[in-house]
Amino acid sequence: MTSSTAADYIEDVSPGSGALPPRARYTTSDAKSLSLNGSWRLRVSATADAEDDSFAEEGYDAGDWAEVAVPGHWVLQGHGSPIYTNHLYPFPVDPPHVPTENPTGDHLRVFDLPSEWPSDGGAVLRFDGVESCARVWLNGTDIGEFKGSRLPHEFAVGHLLKPSGNVLAVRVHQWSAGSYLEDQDQWWLPGIFRDVTLLHRPPGSALDFFVHASYDHLGGAGTLRVDSDVDGRITVPALDIDVATGESVTVAVRPWTAETPYLYDGLLTTEGERVPLRIGFRTVELSDGLIKVNGKAVLFKGVNRHEWHPEKGRALDRETMREDVLLMKRHNINAVRTSHYPPHPDFLDLCDEYGLWVIDECDLETHGFTEQAWRDNPVDDDRWTPALLDRAARMVERDKNHPSIVVWSLGNEAGTGRGLTAMAEWIHARDRSRLVHYEGDINCRDTDVYSRMYADHTEVERIGQELDGGTHKRRGLPFILCEYGHAMGNGPGGLADYQRLFESYERLQGGFIWEWIDHGIKDERYGFAYGGDFGEELHDGNFVCDGLLFPDRVPSPGLIEYKKVVEPVSIDGSDGSVRVTNKHDFADLSAFAFQWSYQVDGETVESGPLTVPPLAPGESAEVKLPAPPVESDGAESQWTVRALLAADTAWAPAGHVVGWGHIPVTARPLPYVSATAGPVLGERRITLGPASFDARTGELKSLGVVDVTGLRLDVWRATTDNDDGASWQTDVRHGPLWRKLGLHRMRHRLDGVELSEDALTVRTRVAPAAWEIGLATVYRWTSDGSRLRLTVSVAPEGDWTVPLPRLGIRFGLDASADRVKWFGGGPGEGYPDTKSASLPARWESTVDGLQTPYVRPQENGARADVRWAELGGLRIDGDPEFWFTARRWTTEQLDAAAHRTDLTPADTVWVNLDHGQHGIGSQSCGPGPLPQYFLDAEPAEFSFVFSEAAFSETPETS
Ligand code: GAL
Repeated sequence: MTSSTAADYIEDVSPGSGALPPRARYTTSDAKSLSLNGSWRLRVSATADAEDDSFAEEGYDAGDWAEVAVPGHWVLQGHGSPIYTNHLYPFPVDPPHVPTENPTGDHLRVFDLPSEWPSDGGAVLRFDGVESCARVWLNGTDIGEFKGSRLPHEFAVGHLLKPSGNVLAVRVHQWSAGSYLEDQDQWWLPGIFRDVTLLHRPPGSALDFFVHASYDHLGGAGTLRVDSDVDGRITVPALDIDVATGESVTVAVRPWTAETPYLYDGLLTTEGERVPLRIGFRTVELSDGLIKVNGKAVLFKGVNRHEWHPEKGRALDRETMREDVLLMKRHNINAVRTSHYPPHPDFLDLCDEYGLWVIDECDLETHGFTEQAWRDNPVDDDRWTPALLDRAARMVERDKNHPSIVVWSLGNEAGTGRGLTAMAEWIHARDRSRLVHYEGDINCRDTDVYSRMYADHTEVERIGQELDGGTHKRRGLPFILCEYGHAMGNGPGGLADYQRLFESYERLQGGFIWEWIDHGIKDERYGFAYGGDFGEELHDGNFVCDGLLFPDRVPSPGLIEYKKVVEPVSIDGSDGSVRVTNKHDFADLSAFAFQWSYQVDGETVESGPLTVPPLAPGESAEVKLPAPPVESDGAESQWTVRALLAADTAWAPAGHVVGWGHIPVTARPLPYVSATAGPVLGERRITLGPASFDARTGELKSLGVVDVTGLRLDVWRATTDNDDGASWQTDVRHGPLWRKLGLHRMRHRLDGVELSEDALTVRTRVAPAAWEIGLATVYRWTSDGSRLRLTVSVAPEGDWTVPLPRLGIRFGLDASADRVKWFGGGPGEGYPDTKSASLPARWESTVDGLQTPYVRPQENGARADVRWAELGGLRIDGDPEFWFTARRWTTEQLDAAAHRTDLTPADTVWVNLDHGQHGIGSQSCGPGPLPQYFLDAEPAEFSFVFSEAAFSETPETS
């Protein structure tokens, strides 16, 4: 027997009932509004039907209920726990059914109308986002229910309002039929997580309106027409526009672009309301197989942005949104894909204002159906189509007046099906002024852009060369990587190589890094928690931490790298001049000032302004540098030329660096030590110049007053997320292979300690148990009496089928070693395929400051191309340059740590000096490192010269 219950709506595939038709969202108007954000009463039940709906009645006493902040998620406020899965549904897949255990949050708020609330007209109650399904009562009347978590829903409530004591009751279910459409890779976080607002609707107020503002790049004119459900007038004072709604007007305008986000203030005046408009004139079109704005092809330097705050989840305030936009602008990012749902509408206002191209994506993902070969996928089942169309309409209608949005996206990873086609058809018909995107539509049947995620460099190049085949339609379309550069942990690697391709082939219109921010949850136990930390039955661990920002919005090295790779001006040079290229699509270089500086041995000796013409987009010029200010005197010398903001902008102050180039002048003399001192054998020690060694093992013990422990060859690094790779990858994943081969447990066999007249030679074989592979390793020490030179020779033995993680030496210094100075790449970390942003100069740090705090600890912090470094009373000169790393824990401890809090400093500072590091790549979801960044196991020889440093950590004694 089947019986229907009051909660049937939860498993109903329809979008809901009672809500008003979707319409344009605007933030301000002269109509009154009342924010219902704040503290609400909350009662959480384990099932949808544990409690009846009497709480919605007036007079209900909720005095003993908990309190919850709205906007917010109750699971982040002490009631239940968050769950993280990538694509697996955390409940049995039996659409549209959901589990009986369905956490349900009854929310209650009593409010009075402000005394000035008008008595005429109506009122609308607006929910900007509730996950995943809500039923709403006002003053005891059931006004409807809805799904579509990140979409707005409005209800007409004027007839129900009282001057005081209004009871707003909202029952929120964590799981609903809608959950099947919301299988994005993120935390499942139920709650009323966006604003709740009561809007007065005066008689004759605006309803829906559509601002059409195009730009004719040939004539420089903008055409404005505002279609409005309620007639009125449109005024734009700066343009002398005063026209009726529905009427077109064409005038000369400054166009809007992401680089030059010019907005005109306008006003829509209907009989009962005045709605301020921010109008940006621009035309988006598909022309010559390219996405063009105002007649020009654009190059997206984008990121995928989920909404995230480490304490508030997806309940973001405007300041946090602004911080995101400012961080993007300051890091040369020009585009955002709102993966994978329409963001809080304020974010789009900010994109209009500061200038970012936006792909607005619908709240739709059914990825979990991939586990059953997409059988029963809602997007290919007509019963669900109304829900899909409702989602498309709620996105487009809400957001259509934002000039920043150039592309609509149907959703993400939802397979293929008739429902998607219906969405695309509806969107195309409703808004012809923008393009439609959906990555899953591989043949571009319904879409206007060929889009892929994580395609490797080779394939992207073939697509650029138009050698990729595909349907006739697809061959005529532009290409974007809607996701690439998986920024999980250390990395992503290979960004500069992608950018070179984007800049070489017209068809490639750029990409969007996955993703903007790590979704770590602030947690006393771990610093930041990730999947599994809340005891979830199913979870995907730290795959939720794959952003360019750490959860607290501190930029990770990946963001610094991306900023350099996508800089809007390139500066290269040789022989006393620089070639400056304007890489903007629209803006000339007049906003930038240029500055040269000249370094000798990494130290800046002089700097000055450089005059660069205000090049048009795409133009280059050769600019002469001044004569070198000093003789290099046998030292390495170089120019650094920077492009800075000439004046304050909305997003950064004057002086903010947007791009730079480094131009070598004279090369570094390699450190030379004449082997004039010979080793002397004592009772237990061998001395050689300033150094003393263990006579039996040949191990270095001290250099002058500096004690050294455990110096030996090292090939292991705490594998990165990209080394480990994703389990589904079909290419070789080096992390697991390295571990299988025992590269983390190499044994060091001593084959001989030899003293000759001018050298101490220690022969070893470094190899893992169980395998025939090994590295014959010879340490040769020489000295001129004050300095000590080590030459390490490594010869692989056996059949090495894998590259090495790293190749170099490691040793321990006393924990008092803290200050580090170096001449080499910095200020941040760099690895073979992540070091575009690593600028060779003099840098200083503490040992702690060298660490990059990845949420899941892993190899980090190497400084690239180091000529010399000083630490703990030692100076180390490299022959050739080396990678420098120092940390207060061992690689083994780093490797074993699951969270930042697992790492605690001990009494040794461990230093790695590496001749080589293996590339990083992006295999945690994308391709591994390119072959040129492999650290192949092959014969190698490298040297370091050790001496006592000019600056010493040793406390001064009197
Ligand atoms: C993509 C997906 C994203 C995210 C990413 C991996 O397949 O679209 O939502 O899961 O992989 O982090």
